[in-house]
Amino acid sequence: MSVTDEIKARIDIVSYVQRYVPSLKKSGRNHKACCPFHNEKTPSFIVNPERGTWHCFGACAEGGDIFTFAQKVNGWDFKEALRELAQLAGVQLRAQTPQQKGEDEKLERLRGLLATAADYYHRRLQQPDAQPVRDYIFAERGLHDETVSGFQLGYAPPGWDFMLKELRGLGYNDEEIIEVGLVARNESGTVYDRFRNRLMIPIHDPRGRVVGFGGRALDPDDNVKYINSPQTPLFDKSRLLFGLDAARRAIRDSGRAIVVEGYFDVIQAHQAGYHNVVAQMGTSMTEAQLRLLSPRLAKRVVLALDTDEAGINATRRSLEMARGVLERDLAGKLSVDMRILQVPAGKDPDDFLRDSPAEWDALLESAQSVADFVIELETADLSPNSGLLDKQAIAQSLLPILLASETDLLRQDNIQKLARRLRIRESELLAWAKSIAPASPPMPAVPPDLPPEYFDAEYDAPPPDADQPPPSKIAQPASLRAAEGYCLSLLLRNPHLLAQVNRKLRELAGDNQLLQNGPLRELGADDFSSSRYRALMVHLQESLQQDDLEPLDFLAQRIDAELQDELVALLREDFVVLSQSLRGNFQVDLSDIVKSRRPAQRPGLDLLNELISRALQLRQERLRDERVDMQYLQEEAQTEADLDRQLDDRLAIEVKLSVLAKARIDLAVGRQRPVASGPVSQQQELARWI
Ligand code: UTP
Ligand code: MN
Repeated sequence: MSVTDEIKARIDIVSYVQRYVPSLKKSGRNHKACCPFHNEKTPSFIVNPERGTWHCFGACAEGGDIFTFAQKVNGWDFKEALRELAQLAGVQLRAQTPQQKGEDEKLERLRGLLATAADYYHRRLQQPDAQPVRDYIFAERGLHDETVSGFQLGYAPPGWDFMLKELRGLGYNDEEIIEVGLVARNESGTVYDRFRNRLMIPIHDPRGRVVGFGGRALDPDDNVKYINSPQTPLFDKSRLLFGLDAARRAIRDSGRAIVVEGYFDVIQAHQAGYHNVVAQMGTSMTEAQLRLLSPRLAKRVVLALDTDEAGINATRRSLEMARGVLERDLAGKLSVDMRILQVPAGKDPDDFLRDSPAEWDALLESAQSVADFVIELETADLSPNSGLLDKQAIAQSLLPILLASETDLLRQDNIQKLARRLRIRESELLAWAKSIAPASPPMPAVPPDLPPEYFDAEYDAPPPDADQPPPSKIAQPASLRAAEGYCLSLLLRNPHLLAQVNRKLRELAGDNQLLQNGPLRELGADDFSSSRYRALMVHLQESLQQDDLEPLDFLAQRIDAELQDELVALLREDFVVLSQSLRGNFQVDLSDIVKSRRPAQRPGLDLLNELISRALQLRQERLRDERVDMQYLQEEAQTEADLDRQLDDRLAIEVKLSVLAKARIDLAVGRQRPVASGPVSQQQELARWI
């Protein structure tokens, strides 16, 4: 049994969904509730425990298995969902070497230490002598009780060994306490608390585990405003975003991330109800930080950085970093819509949010494009009588950004803007542009540069909880799985044929939009019931949206070990031996497999027909499942007092469409009854097939 199957067998999808959707209720063979992903009054979200699936028949019109649910509800990608659900199910993802195991155990112990420390600081804040600190937090910083406990703010008292003694008392040794940065050792060998007389802000990794601290000075005479944890095995400031654990879902839901500079900007934003805000903790943004947000969670990233000189410089550096990404934009591969927000009147977001929380959304709308921002910034000091040399210098610093980013149209627009600001002719500016060396070459499509600790797929899962519900029995029919695997393997060997499959679907839909967008939509992850096939299909689609790499090379680079194994299995045949050596030196081997799987230049008609008919069969399966669920919902809707006419009517139409689609597919794959000659109206067609 594959890991994903094992997870599905061990976690009851109904109880899992209920954690997020408490209103999910049994009704007939299914469970239903109002959809958690959109607003509705009548339930159109159902969970089918037998198949282990969920589906929203309302506005989302989406569905899937426990993995897609976990992804969607938590804002995870497949890899994260796999890791989290494996942990929940007590399934070991990958056998570990004793060395890895030891390393993991050590890190786990250090995490425990940090969690204990956060707890200590937080408790310390409740004690009588911390009254001035609480006054500072509540009165001066305007925070509420829930915010303080939500962010687990704390207090490190003045004194050299509070934390040291506390942790020693709990059995931690000095080396460990030093390793996580809570205490330091001076030259004469004395160990002492790093954080003294400071307001403590725990910093979490994206999974919500404490990995470090920021400590704000409480004494106005203290000349270091913030002390942060040093770089440790768990804490790398340049690869973390403060608040991401709390902001993740809001970012995924809105597709937008706001990046601010400081801890309190984040805390204040969350308190004001704006949850998609994270902080880069004072430095300029690194690529690793951008990658945590985009493109996986956010399409738009708004940099709301301080507008003092240091802030502007940090923004400049962030943009310089992001230029590589914007360049890749041009190649059509990544799309990060980056905006720059300037908080008015020299305030930081913390001040702004305290003064005018209701105006935050409007403020965000005023964020500028990168081009507008840099043009304004660099030409601000230009006076009417600035010389040509000054202008040329400005142009030279700006043109690489303006030329590198955005679409043709925008690029032209930006060049015009700059020409106007510089008061020179556009043609002159373009001539300068030609003389400028081309912008640095686009970076290669490296896999996301994420903190290794964050994405390690290997860890020691606890044994399954004894009082967990008994494993549900989700048996995926072997034949369906095989059919899916076969179809996917055909696609993987011939990725470009996906377009032909979709063309066929469009052809079957004719000019019927409802069919085109509904039951005869393009082939997608939805057409597969196996989680890993679904994930591979998503990657395959992405791989076809770029043209720097062969789709399979692109795909192979982006997937994790679980999916790599699956990919190899699908491409294998005579590669069994090779795949066994994969663990050690994966890249080489997989690329060998990938290469030798290159299809013949022009795939034969037979292959295409085979693929199309297999794909259409999968679609039939999918449609059948959907119809069963819809008919069930309809029956329910009709027997209930809260009959929702609209939903009922829509379901009726959806079922009809589905049947119509089925009929057309049957015709296409040749299981047809004799076709009447002459054009047939949809009504007639329907009548014939229902
Ligand atoms: P700021 O100096 O803008 O501080 O630094 P702030 O957030 O407005 O702090 P308050 O409101 O005066 O308390 C912005 C961020 O830069 C990092 C911290 O993450 C801080 O929140 N920073 C700043 C440091 O790491 N060290 C410092 O000494 C100063
Ligand atoms: Mn501030």
